[in-house]
Amino acid sequence: MITVAIGKGRMQESALSLLARAGIRLSDDAANSRRLALMDQTRQYRFIFVKPADVPVYVEHGIADCGIVGRDVLLESEADLLLPLDLGISRCRIVVAATDAGAITKAQGMIRVATKYAQIARAHFGSRGIPVEIIQLSGSVELAPALGLADVIVDLVETGITLKENGLTVVEEIAESTGRLVVNRASYQLKSEEVAKLVNALERVV
Ligand code: PRP
Repeated sequence: MITVAIGKGRMQESALSLLARAGIRLSDDAANSRRLALMDQTRQYRFIFVKPADVPVYVEHGIADCGIVGRDVLLESEADLLLPLDLGISRCRIVVAATDAGAITKAQGMIRVATKYAQIARAHFGSRGIPVEIIQLSGSVELAPALGLADVIVDLVETGITLKENGLTVVEEIAESTGRLVVNRASYQLKSEEVAKLVNALERVV
């Protein structure tokens, strides 16, 4: 049996439907339950549902052999993981957004950046030599410019509706993000057959 950690929320539904297409299904009663650890119908896989940012933690520590999580989370994490597969699910972009499309070129001095993605934001502006103050938030980041907390935000955009409805526009694109399958280093060796079976099953449907 192998344990797979799945990020709750945005990624969960598309990850489970991709797994189902690969022939790995939760039992019907399990699929509708709120239990956070569930077996698949064949009892070869145990799924644990955790906060997206915790998926790399569970996998790096070997509590989960594999994980399904967005590239956005992986870019922000420093976990040492094997990254065998781009699953192509939950496609979105990590962008810089502001009320004014020229916010960065017009800025003088330090730019205040509100974000859940401090590492990504720091690396993005750092590589261009733009001095920034990072304001770390945990959600609803789109509010920050209108309320005067920040000049720009770094956040995920999927449909673009949240940006639009909060009067923001994309200033720069930083990276594209999709769901990835990650694997614990030890599991990759010690459970190579089971891991390869999962990777192959997913590869066929990606
Ligand atoms: C994400 C992101 C945006 C929104 C973008 O938030 O931070 O707020 O989705 O989606 P859209 O482009 O389709 O409108 P999430 O739903 O993960 O919640 P959070 O802000 O509480 O983290």
